[in-house]
Amino acid sequence: ENNLSAIMVIFGGTGDLTHRKLMPALYNMLLDGLLPEKFRVVSIGRRDKTEEEYRNEVRTSIDKHSRNKVDPDKWAILNDMIKYYRFDFRDLEGYSLLKDYLYQLDKAAGTMGNRIYYLAVAPEYFETIVQGLYKSKMTKIEGAWSRLVIEKPFGKDLITARQLNQKLLEVFDESNIYRIDHYLGKEMIQNIMVLRFGNLIFESLWNNKFIDNIQISLTEKLGVGSRGGYYENSGAMRDMVQNHIMQILSLVAMEPPIKLDTDSIRTEKLKVIEAIEEISPEFLRDNIVFGQYGRGIIDGVPVQGYREEENVPKDSMTETFVALKLHINNFRWAGTPFYIRTGKRLGTYGAEIVIQFKALPNILYFKDSNIQEPNLLVIRIQPNVGVFFQFNTKDFSTHHDLVTTKMDFSYASPIQGNTPEAYERLIYDILRGDSTLFSRWDEVEAAWTVADKIIGYRKQSKLKFPNYDAGSMGPIRAFELLAKDGRRWWNI
Ligand code: BG6
Repeated sequence: ENNLSAIMVIFGGTGDLTHRKLMPALYNMLLDGLLPEKFRVVSIGRRDKTEEEYRNEVRTSIDKHSRNKVDPDKWAILNDMIKYYRFDFRDLEGYSLLKDYLYQLDKAAGTMGNRIYYLAVAPEYFETIVQGLYKSKMTKIEGAWSRLVIEKPFGKDLITARQLNQKLLEVFDESNIYRIDHYLGKEMIQNIMVLRFGNLIFESLWNNKFIDNIQISLTEKLGVGSRGGYYENSGAMRDMVQNHIMQILSLVAMEPPIKLDTDSIRTEKLKVIEAIEEISPEFLRDNIVFGQYGRGIIDGVPVQGYREEENVPKDSMTETFVALKLHINNFRWAGTPFYIRTGKRLGTYGAEIVIQFKALPNILYFKDSNIQEPNLLVIRIQPNVGVFFQFNTKDFSTHHDLVTTKMDFSYASPIQGNTPEAYERLIYDILRGDSTLFSRWDEVEAAWTVADKIIGYRKQSKLKFPNYDAGSMGPIRAFELLAKDGRRWWNI
């Protein structure tokens, strides 16, 4: 199945995701020579518009959101690949017309019947569309491949996720289902395994004997904006923890896979989630903090509180912040806590993983005035992309003191150019049929098992929201969570 020629059918072709992420990604893939020559995008939308109008809108979006600006000659190539197809995907009769249309396009463009069905629509339509494709026999074309791509949320809890999965599996094989977790497409997330398993000095120290604690922080300055309706049913737990954070945690804590193939890697990731220590309500009482933002100031601009956002009830109890301590109960990690933190409307924007190494005995250098600073390895996911290492050296000027210094490797230097966006890598992998950077069903299932317990606990807790100001770093209790263990959050 090395044939990359294909038609990518986007359900939700006029939506936000298509304009902000998918089209810019296709454009950059074209610039990088990763888009096959025989490739077409069929964007499906309900609105009446001409192909030309649609293409112009896409061009404007690329100009606005792409890491590379529009070059007229290159754009002309993508322009010709894009089709607009007007269709209400709830109309089951319409699928056979779509099928004919795609078939004609195959003949004209040499795309050979290969299909990517990309569901960039609200999750309540996943099933309808998959049924429509199935009933019109669009999912199994002789001698060709058909792949299904779905965006999150993959269910809203374990039960609904199972139901959805069952429906998808009736139509597509697991190997042809690509569940997007766009964090896996980020450069530094892919680099976690390389750093760990490609460097003796890191891998040999990567365990509870040498690591004091690990912190995963995904902080945003943005609020929920216009997504209040979605977010009310989601909250930070479903929006960030069940998916992105669980995936990062798996990569940071996994054992080396026996090979670099998709299943070997996913199998090791799954074991991490399965090894998360039983999280009972008693455990959670002391180890989790929920928050919701009130009014505040971000970058000097006053912003409203969560309860004042569009489509959010005045008494909403949805969490926009979570801080959590977890233990992974296996030989490598027993005793080393993992602290997780994510929230909206915080004072900083960034995603990073901090590995804090254990302290040395305070015998030689760390006496009197010299306070020991730990060795830190920081994997910077965004906005900086790179690796930072903190260590101690002798201070020239005083002859005897120590100074803490750093090695800071950043990809985002002018020489290296800007780094590819997550969706570029992910779409390319879908074309190649490589699902390593997508979630396997059992990983999703294990992550829901953990998330469900936490969400269940939140529902029965008495919380006072809002409990942090926009522009702060979250509720005070999130700081106490580490302080009571004699630790602190690092903002490096
Ligand atoms: C999405 C969440 O999955 O990730 C959003 O739904 C969040 O709420 C976003 O803002 C963060 O992604 P990124 O790539 O901007 O860090």
